[in-house]
Amino acid sequence: ETDKPALIARIKALLAKHRAQLVAHYYVDADLQALAEATGGVVADSLEMANFGAQSDAEVLIVCGVRFMGETAKMLSPEKTVLMPDLNATCSLDVGCPSDEFAQFCAQHPDRKVVVYANTSVEVKALADWVVTSGNALAIARYLKAQGEKIIWAPDQHLGHWIDQETGIDMIRWMGHCIVHDEFKAFELEQLKQQYPKAKVLVHPESAAAVLALADVVGSTKVLINAVQSMPDAQFIVATDQGIFYKMQQLAPSKQLIVAPTDSKAKQCISCANCPWMGMNGLENLVAVLEALDQDERVLAQHEIRLDEQKRQQALVALNRMLEFSR
Ligand code: 13P
Ligand code: SF4
Repeated sequence: ETDKPALIARIKALLAKHRAQLVAHYYVDADLQALAEATGGVVADSLEMANFGAQSDAEVLIVCGVRFMGETAKMLSPEKTVLMPDLNATCSLDVGCPSDEFAQFCAQHPDRKVVVYANTSVEVKALADWVVTSGNALAIARYLKAQGEKIIWAPDQHLGHWIDQETGIDMIRWMGHCIVHDEFKAFELEQLKQQYPKAKVLVHPESAAAVLALADVVGSTKVLINAVQSMPDAQFIVATDQGIFYKMQQLAPSKQLIVAPTDSKAKQCISCANCPWMGMNGLENLVAVLEALDQDERVLAQHEIRLDEQKRQQALVALNRMLEFSR
Protein backbone atom coordinates (compact mmCIF):
# COMPACT_ATOMS: atom_id res chain seq x y z
CA GLU A 1 0.00 0.00 0.00
CA THR A 2 1.55 3.27 -1.03
CA ASP A 3 1.03 6.44 0.93
CA LYS A 4 -0.47 8.52 -1.86
CA PRO A 5 -0.66 11.88 -0.04
CA ALA A 6 3.00 11.54 0.97
CA LEU A 7 4.04 10.77 -2.62
CA ILE A 8 2.08 13.76 -3.90
CA ALA A 9 3.61 16.07 -1.30
CA ARG A 10 7.10 14.84 -2.17
CA ILE A 11 6.49 15.38 -5.90
CA LYS A 12 5.27 18.94 -5.27
CA ALA A 13 8.34 19.75 -3.18
CA LEU A 14 10.74 18.31 -5.76
CA LEU A 15 9.03 20.14 -8.64
CA ALA A 16 9.47 23.46 -6.80
CA LYS A 17 13.07 22.69 -5.82
CA HIS A 18 14.13 21.90 -9.40
CA ARG A 19 12.01 24.53 -11.17
CA ALA A 20 10.37 21.67 -13.00
CA GLN A 21 6.98 21.55 -14.70
CA LEU A 22 4.71 18.64 -15.57
CA VAL A 23 3.49 18.35 -19.16
CA ALA A 24 0.81 15.67 -19.09
CA HIS A 25 -1.45 14.08 -21.70
CA TYR A 26 -5.20 13.55 -21.13
CA TYR A 27 -4.67 9.76 -21.17
CA VAL A 28 -2.34 9.48 -18.17
CA ASP A 29 -3.40 8.50 -14.66
CA ALA A 30 -5.86 10.97 -13.07
CA ASP A 31 -3.49 11.61 -10.13
CA LEU A 32 -0.83 12.82 -12.55
CA GLN A 33 -3.27 15.05 -14.41
CA ALA A 34 -4.42 16.57 -11.11
CA LEU A 35 -0.80 17.15 -10.05
CA ALA A 36 0.05 18.86 -13.35
CA GLU A 37 -2.91 21.18 -12.87
CA ALA A 38 -2.09 21.92 -9.25
CA THR A 39 1.56 22.78 -9.89
CA GLY A 40 1.45 25.16 -12.86
CA GLY A 41 2.01 22.50 -15.48
CA VAL A 42 -0.43 21.51 -18.18
CA VAL A 43 -2.79 18.70 -19.14
CA ALA A 44 -3.31 18.78 -22.88
CA ASP A 45 -3.50 17.08 -26.26
CA SER A 46 -0.28 16.44 -28.11
CA LEU A 47 -0.38 19.75 -30.00
CA GLU A 48 -0.87 21.84 -26.86
CA MET A 49 1.76 19.82 -25.00
CA ALA A 50 4.29 20.82 -27.69
CA ASN A 51 3.30 24.48 -27.51
CA PHE A 52 3.32 24.57 -23.71
CA GLY A 53 6.78 23.02 -23.47
CA ALA A 54 8.22 25.44 -26.03
CA GLN A 55 6.84 28.49 -24.21
CA SER A 56 7.56 27.36 -20.66
CA ASP A 57 10.38 29.05 -18.73
CA ALA A 58 10.95 26.01 -16.52
CA GLU A 59 14.45 24.53 -16.48
CA VAL A 60 13.13 20.99 -16.39
CA LEU A 61 10.12 19.52 -18.19
CA ILE A 62 8.72 16.21 -16.99
CA VAL A 63 6.66 14.80 -19.84
CA CYS A 64 3.97 12.39 -18.62
CA GLY A 65 2.83 10.70 -21.79
CA VAL A 66 4.60 8.64 -24.44
CA ARG A 67 8.06 8.87 -25.93
CA PHE A 68 7.26 10.97 -29.00
CA MET A 69 5.81 13.64 -26.70
CA GLY A 70 9.05 13.79 -24.73
CA GLU A 71 11.06 13.91 -27.94
CA THR A 72 8.90 16.74 -29.30
CA ALA A 73 9.45 18.73 -26.11
CA LYS A 74 13.22 18.23 -26.40
CA MET A 75 13.25 19.11 -30.10
CA LEU A 76 11.63 22.46 -29.28
CA SER A 77 13.64 23.14 -26.10
CA PRO A 78 17.13 21.66 -26.49
CA GLU A 79 18.37 23.83 -23.63
CA LYS A 80 15.89 22.34 -21.15
CA THR A 81 16.29 19.05 -19.32
CA VAL A 82 13.43 16.86 -20.57
CA LEU A 83 12.64 13.82 -18.46
CA MET A 84 10.04 11.06 -18.58
CA PRO A 85 8.91 8.72 -15.79
CA ASP A 86 9.58 5.79 -18.13
CA LEU A 87 11.49 6.15 -21.40
CA ASN A 88 10.07 2.81 -22.57
CA ALA A 89 6.61 4.34 -22.93
CA THR A 90 6.36 4.11 -26.69
CA CYS A 91 3.37 4.04 -29.07
CA SER A 92 2.31 1.35 -31.55
CA LEU A 93 2.33 3.91 -34.36
CA ASP A 94 5.93 4.85 -33.63
CA VAL A 95 6.98 1.18 -33.30
CA GLY A 96 5.18 0.29 -36.54
CA CYS A 97 7.05 2.84 -38.64
CA PRO A 98 10.82 2.20 -38.52
CA SER A 99 12.78 5.04 -40.09
CA ASP A 100 14.88 2.87 -42.45
CA GLU A 101 11.79 1.25 -44.00
CA PHE A 102 10.01 4.57 -44.14
CA ALA A 103 12.99 6.16 -45.94
CA GLN A 104 12.71 3.48 -48.65
CA PHE A 105 8.96 4.05 -48.91
CA CYS A 106 9.51 7.79 -49.39
CA ALA A 107 12.26 7.20 -51.95
CA GLN A 108 9.74 5.40 -54.16
CA HIS A 109 7.58 8.53 -54.38
CA PRO A 110 9.93 11.49 -54.68
CA ASP A 111 7.23 13.71 -56.20
CA ARG A 112 5.13 13.68 -53.02
CA LYS A 113 5.28 15.82 -49.88
CA VAL A 114 5.91 13.67 -46.82
CA VAL A 115 3.35 14.31 -44.06
CA VAL A 116 3.77 12.40 -40.79
CA TYR A 117 1.73 12.17 -37.62
CA ALA A 118 3.32 13.52 -34.44
CA ASN A 119 3.22 9.92 -33.10
CA THR A 120 6.56 9.08 -34.76
CA SER A 121 10.26 9.07 -33.90
CA VAL A 122 12.63 11.98 -34.47
CA GLU A 123 14.23 9.92 -37.27
CA VAL A 124 10.90 9.61 -39.10
CA LYS A 125 10.14 13.30 -38.60
CA ALA A 126 13.57 14.08 -40.05
CA LEU A 127 12.35 12.50 -43.32
CA ALA A 128 9.17 14.61 -43.39
CA ASP A 129 8.13 17.91 -44.91
CA TRP A 130 5.26 18.33 -42.45
CA VAL A 131 4.31 17.00 -39.02
CA VAL A 132 0.62 17.06 -38.07
CA THR A 133 -1.44 16.09 -35.02
CA SER A 134 -5.08 15.08 -35.04
CA GLY A 135 -5.75 18.68 -33.99
CA ASN A 136 -4.54 20.21 -37.25
CA ALA A 137 -4.31 17.33 -39.77
CA LEU A 138 -7.39 18.36 -41.77
CA ALA A 139 -6.41 22.03 -42.01
CA ILE A 140 -2.88 21.18 -43.16
CA ALA A 141 -4.12 18.60 -45.69
CA ARG A 142 -6.58 21.15 -47.10
CA TYR A 143 -3.80 23.70 -47.38
CA LEU A 144 -1.52 21.23 -49.19
CA LYS A 145 -4.30 20.21 -51.52
CA ALA A 146 -4.95 23.84 -52.40
CA GLN A 147 -1.24 24.11 -53.25
CA GLY A 148 -1.70 21.21 -55.69
CA GLU A 149 0.47 18.85 -53.62
CA LYS A 150 0.23 15.06 -53.52
CA ILE A 151 1.31 13.45 -50.25
CA ILE A 152 2.73 10.42 -48.53
CA TRP A 153 0.93 9.91 -45.21
CA ALA A 154 2.29 7.92 -42.24
CA PRO A 155 1.86 6.02 -40.08
CA ASP A 156 -1.82 5.75 -38.98
CA GLN A 157 -3.95 4.21 -41.74
CA HIS A 158 -7.29 5.18 -40.18
CA LEU A 159 -6.37 8.80 -39.56
CA GLY A 160 -5.00 8.85 -43.12
CA HIS A 161 -8.23 7.44 -44.51
CA TRP A 162 -10.25 10.05 -42.62
CA ILE A 163 -8.05 12.90 -43.94
CA ASP A 164 -8.40 11.47 -47.45
CA GLN A 165 -12.19 11.24 -47.12
CA GLU A 166 -12.58 14.74 -45.69
CA THR A 167 -10.17 16.58 -47.98
CA GLY A 168 -9.85 14.45 -51.13
CA ILE A 169 -6.08 14.99 -51.20
CA ASP A 170 -4.08 12.54 -53.36
CA MET A 171 -2.49 10.32 -50.73
CA ILE A 172 -0.36 7.17 -50.44
CA ARG A 173 -0.70 5.70 -46.94
CA TRP A 174 1.63 3.82 -44.62
CA MET A 175 -0.54 1.12 -43.01
CA GLY A 176 0.17 1.48 -39.28
CA HIS A 177 -2.45 1.45 -36.53
CA CYS A 178 -2.97 2.34 -32.89
CA ILE A 179 -3.60 -0.79 -30.84
CA VAL A 180 -6.07 1.06 -28.62
CA HIS A 181 -8.28 2.81 -31.18
CA ASP A 182 -8.14 -0.03 -33.68
CA GLU A 183 -10.05 -2.14 -31.11
CA PHE A 184 -13.29 -0.17 -31.17
CA LYS A 185 -15.91 -2.15 -33.08
CA ALA A 186 -18.66 -0.71 -35.28
CA PHE A 187 -21.21 -3.53 -34.93
CA GLU A 188 -21.14 -3.41 -31.13
CA LEU A 189 -21.16 0.39 -31.18
CA GLU A 190 -24.33 0.33 -33.24
CA GLN A 191 -25.96 -1.95 -30.67
CA LEU A 192 -24.86 0.30 -27.84
CA LYS A 193 -26.33 3.29 -29.67
CA GLN A 194 -29.68 1.51 -29.68
CA GLN A 195 -29.38 1.02 -25.94
CA TYR A 196 -28.61 4.75 -25.48
CA PRO A 197 -30.52 6.37 -28.36
CA LYS A 198 -30.00 9.90 -27.03
CA ALA A 199 -26.25 9.56 -26.54
CA LYS A 200 -23.86 11.41 -28.84
CA VAL A 201 -20.89 9.39 -30.14
CA LEU A 202 -17.39 10.90 -29.84
CA VAL A 203 -14.56 9.20 -31.75
CA HIS A 204 -10.82 9.83 -32.09
CA PRO A 205 -9.77 9.60 -35.76
CA GLU A 206 -7.30 6.76 -35.08
CA SER A 207 -10.36 4.47 -35.06
CA ALA A 208 -11.48 2.47 -38.11
CA ALA A 209 -13.64 4.07 -40.82
CA ALA A 210 -16.72 2.01 -39.88
CA VAL A 211 -16.52 3.41 -36.33
CA LEU A 212 -15.92 6.97 -37.55
CA ALA A 213 -19.02 6.63 -39.72
CA LEU A 214 -21.13 6.27 -36.54
CA ALA A 215 -19.65 9.35 -34.86
CA ASP A 216 -21.38 12.64 -34.11
CA VAL A 217 -17.98 14.24 -33.45
CA VAL A 218 -14.56 13.12 -34.73
CA GLY A 219 -11.49 14.89 -33.43
CA SER A 220 -8.41 15.16 -31.26
CA THR A 221 -8.65 14.55 -27.51
CA LYS A 222 -9.10 18.31 -27.03
CA VAL A 223 -11.98 18.43 -29.54
CA LEU A 224 -13.74 15.50 -27.84
CA ILE A 225 -13.41 17.14 -24.41
CA ASN A 226 -14.79 20.42 -25.77
CA ALA A 227 -17.74 18.51 -27.25
CA VAL A 228 -18.75 17.05 -23.88
CA GLN A 229 -18.54 20.48 -22.30
CA SER A 230 -20.27 22.49 -25.01
CA MET A 231 -22.95 20.17 -26.41
CA PRO A 232 -26.31 20.26 -24.61
CA ASP A 233 -26.66 16.44 -24.60
CA ALA A 234 -26.55 14.48 -21.33
CA GLN A 235 -24.97 11.20 -22.52
CA PHE A 236 -21.85 10.51 -24.57
CA ILE A 237 -20.39 7.28 -25.90
CA VAL A 238 -16.63 7.83 -26.07
CA ALA A 239 -14.27 5.93 -28.37
CA THR A 240 -10.81 6.81 -27.09
CA ASP A 241 -8.56 6.05 -24.10
CA GLN A 242 -10.52 6.23 -20.84
CA GLY A 243 -7.91 8.45 -19.21
CA ILE A 244 -9.77 11.27 -20.95
CA PHE A 245 -12.75 10.78 -18.61
CA TYR A 246 -10.92 12.61 -15.82
CA LYS A 247 -10.98 15.91 -17.72
CA MET A 248 -14.42 15.34 -19.27
CA GLN A 249 -15.95 14.65 -15.87
CA GLN A 250 -14.15 17.60 -14.31
CA LEU A 251 -15.48 20.05 -16.91
CA ALA A 252 -18.95 18.50 -17.21
CA PRO A 253 -19.72 16.66 -13.94
CA SER A 254 -23.40 16.13 -14.71
CA LYS A 255 -22.86 14.29 -18.00
CA GLN A 256 -22.90 10.52 -18.34
CA LEU A 257 -19.90 9.04 -20.14
CA ILE A 258 -20.04 5.56 -21.63
CA VAL A 259 -17.01 3.67 -22.94
CA ALA A 260 -17.39 2.58 -26.56
CA PRO A 261 -17.32 -1.21 -26.94
CA THR A 262 -14.19 -3.00 -28.07
CA ASP A 263 -15.57 -6.47 -28.74
CA SER A 264 -18.80 -8.44 -28.74
CA LYS A 265 -18.23 -10.15 -25.40
CA ALA A 266 -17.46 -7.02 -23.44
CA LYS A 267 -20.07 -4.44 -24.37
CA GLN A 268 -18.72 -1.94 -21.90
CA CYS A 269 -15.18 -2.97 -21.58
CA ILE A 270 -13.34 -1.41 -18.65
CA SER A 271 -9.91 -2.93 -18.99
CA CYS A 272 -9.70 -1.98 -22.68
CA ALA A 273 -9.54 1.52 -24.09
CA ASN A 274 -6.41 1.95 -22.00
CA CYS A 275 -3.12 2.64 -23.72
CA PRO A 276 -0.54 0.40 -22.02
CA TRP A 277 2.25 2.90 -22.69
CA MET A 278 0.36 5.87 -21.27
CA GLY A 279 -0.23 3.59 -18.27
CA MET A 280 3.51 3.39 -17.64
CA ASN A 281 3.36 6.85 -16.03
CA GLY A 282 2.59 6.74 -12.31
CA LEU A 283 3.23 8.50 -9.00
CA GLU A 284 6.09 6.18 -8.02
CA ASN A 285 8.16 6.59 -11.14
CA LEU A 286 7.40 10.30 -11.16
CA VAL A 287 9.03 10.56 -7.73
CA ALA A 288 11.94 8.49 -9.01
CA VAL A 289 12.51 10.72 -12.02
CA LEU A 290 12.51 13.85 -9.84
CA GLU A 291 14.90 12.24 -7.38
CA ALA A 292 17.21 11.39 -10.29
CA LEU A 293 17.85 15.13 -10.65
CA ASP A 294 19.83 14.97 -7.39
CA GLN A 295 21.76 11.87 -8.39
CA ASP A 296 24.66 11.21 -10.70
CA GLU A 297 24.68 11.39 -14.47
CA ARG A 298 24.15 7.65 -14.92
CA VAL A 299 20.84 7.65 -13.04
CA LEU A 300 19.60 10.77 -14.82
CA ALA A 301 20.42 9.24 -18.22
CA GLN A 302 17.82 6.53 -17.57
CA HIS A 303 15.08 9.16 -17.61
CA GLU A 304 16.39 11.92 -19.86
CA ILE A 305 15.48 12.46 -23.51
CA ARG A 306 18.71 12.98 -25.43
CA LEU A 307 18.64 13.53 -29.18
CA ASP A 308 21.20 13.45 -31.93
CA GLU A 309 21.66 17.15 -32.75
CA GLN A 310 21.71 16.70 -36.51
CA LYS A 311 18.51 14.62 -36.48
CA ARG A 312 16.90 17.09 -34.11
CA GLN A 313 17.56 19.98 -36.46
CA GLN A 314 16.33 18.04 -39.50
CA ALA A 315 13.13 16.98 -37.74
CA LEU A 316 12.55 20.46 -36.35
CA VAL A 317 11.95 21.89 -39.84
CA ALA A 318 8.77 19.81 -40.35
CA LEU A 319 7.67 20.28 -36.74
CA ASN A 320 8.08 24.07 -36.84
CA ARG A 321 6.19 24.23 -40.11
CA MET A 322 3.23 22.68 -38.29
CA LEU A 323 3.49 24.95 -35.24
CA GLU A 324 3.74 28.07 -37.39
CA PHE A 325 0.76 26.93 -39.45
CA SER A 326 -1.33 26.36 -36.32
CA ARG A 327 -0.50 29.69 -34.69
P1 13P B 1 -4.14 13.80 -29.41
O1 13P B 1 -3.19 14.61 -30.21
O2 13P B 1 -5.54 13.89 -29.91
O3 13P B 1 -4.02 14.13 -27.97
O4 13P B 1 -3.79 12.26 -29.61
C1 13P B 1 -2.60 11.67 -29.20
C2 13P B 1 -2.72 10.21 -29.17
O5 13P B 1 -1.77 9.50 -28.94
C3 13P B 1 -4.03 9.62 -29.42
O6 13P B 1 -3.98 8.25 -29.28
FE1 SF4 C 1 -0.05 5.54 -29.45
FE2 SF4 C 1 -2.52 4.65 -29.50
FE3 SF4 C 1 -1.27 4.88 -27.19
FE4 SF4 C 1 -2.06 7.08 -28.55
S1 SF4 C 1 -3.36 5.51 -27.63
S2 SF4 C 1 -0.07 6.75 -27.57
S3 SF4 C 1 -1.72 6.39 -30.64
S4 SF4 C 1 -0.71 3.50 -28.86
